Order: sequence, then C-alpha cells, then structure tokens
Amino acid sequence: MNRVFSGVQPTGDIHIGNYLGAIRNFVKLQDEADCFFCVVDLHAVTVPQDPKILRQKTLEVATLYFAVGIDPQKSTVFVQSAVPAHAELAWMLQCITYFGELGRMTQFKDKSGGKENVSVGLFTYPTLMAADILLYQTDVVPVGQDQKQHLELSRDLAQRFNQRYGETFRVPEPFIGEIGAKVMALDDPAKKMSKSAGNPNNRIDLLDDARTVQKKIARAVTDSGSEVRYAPEDKPGIANLMSIYSSLSGETMVQIEERYQGKGYGNFKGDLTELLNAELGGIQSRYQELQESGKVLQFLEEGAARALAVAERTLNVVKERMGFKYF
Ligand code: TYM
Repeated sequence: MNRVFSGVQPTGDIHIGNYLGAIRNFVKLQDEADCFFCVVDLHAVTVPQDPKILRQKTLEVATLYFAVGIDPQKSTVFVQSAVPAHAELAWMLQCITYFGELGRMTQFKDKSGGKENVSVGLFTYPTLMAADILLYQTDVVPVGQDQKQHLELSRDLAQRFNQRYGETFRVPEPFIGEIGAKVMALDDPAKKMSKSAGNPNNRIDLLDDARTVQKKIARAVTDSGSEVRYAPEDKPGIANLMSIYSSLSGETMVQIEERYQGKGYGNFKGDLTELLNAELGGIQSRYQELQESGKVLQFLEEGAARALAVAERTLNVVKERMGFKYF
C-alpha cells in the first residue's frame, strides 16, 4: 500500500485554493493509501506568530481536515510539533542541503523580497518540509502547483542522502491534480489565491458564510466582455472562475461554455455561488458538529502516537547511518 503524506500551514484562513488544490485530494487518497496528514505548525513560525492565535489556527485546520471528510480511523492526522523527529531530521538534512539550492526557491524569494528581518527558518523551510515527507517513507505527496519546487528538493535530498549514507529514504513523487492545482486570486487573476494576502476579497475561505461568498463572487474581477469562454490568456478572471466551477461540478470547460452561451456573467456567477455554498455548507455543518463534540484533541493525540512510532523508526535508521547511535 502506498504511503501518502501532506501538510497545511495553520496561518491565515484556509481557502478554496487549499481545498481544491490539495485537501480535497487527501480525502480521495485515504481509501487507497496509508495516509498521514499534518498541521505544520513548526513551518508557521518561520514568520512571527501570536502563540494564542497559532494554537487556535492549528486546531481550526485540524478540525477542517475532519470536516472535509478525512476519517481519523483511516488516516493519521497530527500536529507537527507533537513529533520531535521532524525538527531533528530537518537539522540532519540541512547539513546536506546547499545554500545555493535554498536561495533558488521561488517561494523564499517571494516571501523575503523587500523585507529587512528575514528569519533563517524561512530560508531553511524547504528542508523542514523534506524532513516531514522523508520521515514517513512517503511515496506520494498531494499538493498544489506552488509546492512543486519544494518537492523536487525533497527528492534531491532523499537521493543525496541515500548516495552518501546508503539506501535510507524512499524518493517521493508529487501528486498535482489537473484542475484546481493553481486557483488564482479573485481580485487579481495574475496572482495565486493566498492565505496571507491582505485583502480578504482575494479568496473564498472554507468558513465563509453564504452571504460573504455571494459578495466575493459578485466582486470577482472579470473583463469588459460578456462571453463565458475558457481563454486563460485573454480572459484570466473568467478562466479562473470556470476552473473553480469545473472542479466543483465535474463539468468540462466545453460543457460550461455551452451551458452559458448567450447568458452573460451574472448568470454564471450566480450558479457558481450556489455550487460553492452547497460545498461549503456541508463542510461547515460538520465543522460545527466536530467543535461541539470536543473530539478533535483526542483524534490528534491518537494521530501523534501513530506518527511518532513511524517517524522514530526512520530517525533511528538515519542516526545509525550518520554515526549517532550508541546504545
Ligand atoms: P500551504 O499551507 O501554503 O498550502 C496548503 C496546500 O494548499 C495548496 N495551495 C493551493 N492550491 C491551489 N491553488 C492555490 N491558490 C493554492 N494555495 C495553496 C498548496 O500547494 C498546499 O498543497 N509548504 C506547504 C506545507 C507543507 C507540506 C509539507 C506540504 C509543509 N510540509 C510536506 C506537503 C508535504 C505549504 O506552505 O502549504
């Protein structure tokens, strides 16, 4: 059975980009693979965080994992900081990662650009991500398009370690869906939808109520035309909304174009709002139930115990290979 690992940072609000690009695929994969899904709180502190809010956001992401349909009986769901092996392996991998490699990471360049005090953690972040993945002997990593470069580094580090110290890690493959892997911002279709964007109209959050969704879709940037046609170059706003529509309805772009022929943007946006609210409504009612049940912490504790056992197994081999094993 394939091993799957993925993670989400508990920073900002989880949006439909995170959902369509990654989290929704987690749910599908849990029936065919041995899955580990992590809330990566150690990654979050690469930029300053208020500890109270970080804790609250960590539990929010965990609750959302369960609310979208990740089953704690089938998948191992846990918080990264509860498994010390992540930080330990990250250090060992940092010592085989080259400065130039990390300097080439586009996410680091974007996040550090123009800032004065950039933490060393933000720079070495992709190595911690490699540690997350390699600790679990992962075969497949479901992520959005923006994580592809980080995944390539994880593969390079696995191969480099295996070459230097002997076969230790499985070399992971990314799993990037065809539709939804790069959901663009509603207020600017040239940028990706992002948790950290200042303007909340950039995105639809999984916990947005129906009225907010309606307003955000109504305000979403389109163009001066009226034709619902999939043309990412000429009509990036409409193309992005069509991708979201297609991800939710399962319809192809051609089917969507036919359905809205001669009908204009208002009609299309109205139906897209309905599709979104139907999907989010279900997630939100399960979220509410989970919050009331008080079971999330228990699921996370059980998940951490399972994750710890698997992670320790790999870490012990790594220690042996590197000359750190005495007893
Ligand atoms: P994060 O928290 O930024 O995003 C979580 C997941 O959502 C995907 N995603 C998107 N997909 C489509 N359209 C978008 N606009 C969009 N924005 C985000 C991301 O690709 C990701 O899959 N470094 C990771 C977290 C991480 C991780 C890992 C992932 C840490 N360790 C190990 C996989 C394996 C991150 O910051 O994701």
